[in-house]
Amino acid sequence: MASPCLSLSLWGLLLLPLLLLCALTLRAAPAPRPGEFWHITDLHLDPSYHISRNHTRVCASSKGKNASNPGLFGDFMCDSPYQLILSALQYIKDSDQQASFMIWTGDSPPHVPVKELSTKIVIDIIGNLTSTIRSFLPDLQVFPALGNHDYWPQDQMPVSANEVYNAAANFWRPWLTDEAVNTLRKGGFYTQIFHPNSSAQPLRIISLNTVLYYSPDNMTLNMTDPANQFEWLENVLETAEQNMEKVYVIGHVPVGYLPYMRNITAMRKHYNERLIEIFRRHSSVIAGQFFGHTHRDSVMVLLDEKGKPINSLFVAPAVTPVKDAWEADTNNPGVRLFQYDPSSYSLLDLWQFYLNLTEANMKNESVWKLEYVMTKDYGMEDLMPESLYEMTNRLSAPHSTLFQKYYYYYFVSYDDPHLFCAKHCKISQLCAIKHLDLSSYIDCIEHEDKLQHGE
Ligand SMILES: *[C@@H]1O[C@H](CO)[C@@H](O)[C@H](O)[C@H]1NC(C)=O
Ligand SMILES: *[C@@H]1O[C@H](CO)[C@@H](O)[C@H](O)[C@H]1NC(C)=O
Ligand SMILES: *[C@@H]1O[C@H](CO)[C@@H](O)[C@H](O)[C@H]1NC(C)=O
Ligand SMILES: *[C@@H]1O[C@H](CO)[C@@H](O)[C@H](O)[C@H]1NC(C)=O
Ligand SMILES: *[C@@H]1O[C@H](CO)[C@@H](O)[C@H](O)[C@H]1NC(C)=O
Ligand SMILES: *[C@@H]1O[C@H](CO)[C@@H](O)[C@H](O)[C@H]1NC(C)=O
Ligand SMILES: *[C@@H]1O[C@H](CO)[C@@H](O)[C@H](O)[C@H]1NC(C)=O
Ligand SMILES: *[C@@H]1O[C@H](CO)[C@@H](O)[C@H](O)[C@H]1NC(C)=O
Ligand SMILES: *[C@@H]1O[C@H](CO)[C@@H](O)[C@H](O)[C@H]1NC(C)=O
Ligand SMILES: [Zn+2]
Ligand SMILES: [Zn+2]
Repeated sequence: MASPCLSLSLWGLLLLPLLLLCALTLRAAPAPRPGEFWHITDLHLDPSYHISRNHTRVCASSKGKNASNPGLFGDFMCDSPYQLILSALQYIKDSDQQASFMIWTGDSPPHVPVKELSTKIVIDIIGNLTSTIRSFLPDLQVFPALGNHDYWPQDQMPVSANEVYNAAANFWRPWLTDEAVNTLRKGGFYTQIFHPNSSAQPLRIISLNTVLYYSPDNMTLNMTDPANQFEWLENVLETAEQNMEKVYVIGHVPVGYLPYMRNITAMRKHYNERLIEIFRRHSSVIAGQFFGHTHRDSVMVLLDEKGKPINSLFVAPAVTPVKDAWEADTNNPGVRLFQYDPSSYSLLDLWQFYLNLTEANMKNESVWKLEYVMTKDYGMEDLMPESLYEMTNRLSAPHSTLFQKYYYYYFVSYDDPHLFCAKHCKISQLCAIKHLDLSSYIDCIEHEDKLQHGE
């Protein structure tokens, strides 16, 4: 019970100099306990999910196709049953992690044809998941971001106030400041300072509405700065710089190139270029960037024009396991925990948790497990840009077993004995990791293709 320092204090004034010394050495000794936060994304609740003998009827999100092996916690052809979402939140609640906040990067409604939803249904589902999260984690600060499915019709987010932004602002009011709620109502984005009790320096969260830049969003066609978000972002980052703040950028649709395709950005290319340019210019205040939307687990390292790593970006895998009929593979449900240095908000580590959906359904029990610890599994010091860059260089080695592991985790340990990423696939993955802008991406692809043909 009694530490030497505590028992010393009993002797009071007599020992004051010793006590001071003791306090000083204690203070200098161990690094402070890392801060932690959760990241959940792409919950995609399908309220229609139910076990049915006729597998085409199990869930609306299978869109008339047969569910594959439906169970209590879902099916790989379906979006999340409510049970699956409850099990994820229960796991987070029961874990003894001391997270100081959570980020939640959007996409609550299911993947169903537009005419099966409505503004009301979309709003109801966002409200449902907000209440559900709050009922499990009533004291946890949550920072949400809107996804392309958090609108009706999906993807068509407008650049001004509307029913959906307004509803989200009302739902999220318990987590947000008045100022954040106001910008959320107008454009679907916000910024807010987070003051953890242990840390001297506050953290600024910037929640971007990257759906405005998403290629299918017809409401922003031909606009140079939808909802003036770029201008706003630059102002916020400049102020952050002046105030010596550290920033986490969160959003749904990620910047950069899609790792599973050639030459395709998730955003329209010109918006991607603009965003990369802004992030490069302000990289010194940005301590991390966090996205969802692809449903897969991937990383990106933002390089400056000279090729120096300046930012670490993380795309978190989805809670929903859904896949389309034409897809061979999908992800197991996942949630993740980050660790950061509370004095600088530098990212130290990432703990990826997952549910083996096949096993959970077989046992009628949701056993969420640790999938990997990034520093351990990838042999890294921490998650800062230099370390991430060094790790991704190791992925590039021919026949890298580390890359096989990366590709297995990309699908959240999805059970497919044939899972393999051959040359063309590997080049797309690798170029997307380190080359977020058009010209360096094209250079990477050309260079890698040439190397391969020269082999
Ligand atoms: C299964 O449900 C679908 C859609 O409701 C229906 O068209 C089909 O006839 C059903 N199949 C059987 C075997 O009942
Ligand atoms: C679903 O499975 C049933 C039984 O195997 C089959 O008869 C039916 O054609 C399948 N439906 C679809 C849409 O694949
Ligand atoms: C959310 O939706 C689920 C599934 O439709 C329902 O069972 C649950 O009662 C709803 N919860 C809230 C808080 O609205
Ligand atoms: C903040 O304080 C609470 C209660 O004093 C404590 O339980 C929690 O661990 C602290 N958070 C951090 C990040 O240190
Ligand atoms: C968006 O625009 C494209 C091209 O004009 C069109 O094909 C598509 O149907 C539009 N989508 C919506 C939801 O309006
Ligand atoms: C956008 O610009 C293209 C050509 O620059 C034009 O054809 C199209 O009509 C414009 N669309 C809108 C919605 O203004
Ligand atoms: C990639 O896309 C750009 C335009 O966005 C185009 O100029 C370029 O030719 C494409 N490259 C390849 C290899 O397809
Ligand atoms: C998931 O569970 C299935 C069924 O028990 C098993 O075959 C598979 O190996 C498990 N996957 C992992 C990653 O443990
Ligand atoms: C799992 O739960 C379902 C529905 O609650 C039940 O029908 C089934 O018998 C259970 N299976 C096992 C193996 O316990
Ligand atoms: Zn999604
Ligand atoms: Zn999405």
